[in-house]
This record gives sequence, structure tokens and C-alpha cells, in this order.
Amino acid sequence: MKRGIFISIEGSDGSGKSTQLSYIKEYFRDHNLDAVFTREPGGTAIGEKIRNIILDNENSEMFPLTEAMLYAAARAQHVRELIVPTLEKGRHVVCDRFVDSSIAYQGYGRELGDCVGVINGFAVGGRMPDFTFFLDLDPAVGRGRISSAHFDRLEKEKLSFHQRVYEGYLKVMEEGGGRFIRIDASKSVEEVRSEIYAHLDRIFFGERENG
Ligand code: TYD
Repeated sequence: MKRGIFISIEGSDGSGKSTQLSYIKEYFRDHNLDAVFTREPGGTAIGEKIRNIILDNENSEMFPLTEAMLYAAARAQHVRELIVPTLEKGRHVVCDRFVDSSIAYQGYGRELGDCVGVINGFAVGGRMPDFTFFLDLDPAVGRGRISSAHFDRLEKEKLSFHQRVYEGYLKVMEEGGGRFIRIDASKSVEEVRSEIYAHLDRIFFGERENG
């Protein structure tokens, strides 16, 4: 059986990722594509428990390395329990954030550097996404789009943290080769959606972009 396609969606906070994910879900439904939608941190019962620990505003004393290892632990479970078995059944997987988030947020944002890649090498066990959409938006603009009343522990970080995260993403994309699809998220919701749809057409039906 043909393995499913593994797609991850990345973006800075406020880049419109959730809105676009709901459009991507619609695309899969409208085209009868069989996919499992999942997210990180989380995606499994164990992963969701780890997510609650990581994002809890009470856990302000958490060390950056602890945080990085918890994300990787949730990912190790996710890859083995859900992602790999799903792909092997021939179904597609669409994941809201994956390992690139750890490189950007923990490696660059928390300035943990290369150890994040090493830890995550074990976590993903070689199963990288086939395609990664990156919703590219200046972090200052992105933060203006979300309400600070609902900030979780990571969103509460200063703008300088989010600038480092953004630079991390740019580095990861430089080094990541062909799997990255960069989308200008400063455009209107509709424009972003149709750009993503054009890429999905190409990925699943081999059509040329924009027609
Ligand atoms: P979430 O509420 O899912 O935010 P978003 O809608 O922005 O995806 O919270 C996930 C947070 O965790 C987000 O701020 C990014 C961060 N994160 C990391 O720092 N490292 C990681 O490996 C992952 C997967 C997420």
C-alpha cells in the first residue's frame, strides 16, 4: 500500500494558522482525501497531558531544557502512536506544528541551540514531513493580532523572544531543503487560502500552481 503524505503547518503566533487549518480541513473533505488532523504538543492522550504541563501559566519555573524535553517526549509518543501507523495505513497526516517548532522556539527562542536538534532526532526517528507550510509573518504584526488576555506561557514571552523564534524559522527553512512552502501570511485570509489550495492541488493532483 502507498504510504500517506505527511504535511506539517508552522507559523509564528498570530500568523492565522488556525484559520488556514480549518480551510485545509475543508479542502481534504471536498476532495475526498482521507487524512488525520492532529497537533503538537499533543495528538495523543499522553501528549495532551504533557501539553497541559508545558503550557500551564503556573509552571513559570520550568527550565528551557525541561521544556524542550517535554515537547520532544510528546513528539516521540505522537510519531510512534499516531503519525507513523496512520501514514502506513495509506492515510495522510496533517499536523499543526511539528519538529520545526522546537528548533525555532526552544533552539532559537530559548537559545538552547543544537541540543534541540539532537533530542528531536531521537523523538522523530527519521520520520520528517513530506511538506511543511510556513505561514510567514513579522512577529510584531502577529502579536498585534492576538489578544494578550488569552496568552499562554509561551505567548507571554517578550517580543525579542518571538523575533528569535522567527529568525529560527528562517534558518530552518534555509537548511530544510525542498519540503518547505513559504506563504506570505500578511496577505488577506482569502489570498493565503487560495495560495495554500494551489499547493495542495499540486501535491495531491499534480496540477500546476495557480491553475
Ligand atoms: P498552541 O495553543 O497550540 O498555539 P498555536 O496556535 O500558536 O500553535 O500552543 C503551542 C505553543 O507551543 C506555541 O506557542 C508554540 C509552542 N511550541 C514550542 O515552543 N515548541 C514546540 O515544539 C511546539 C510543537 C510548540
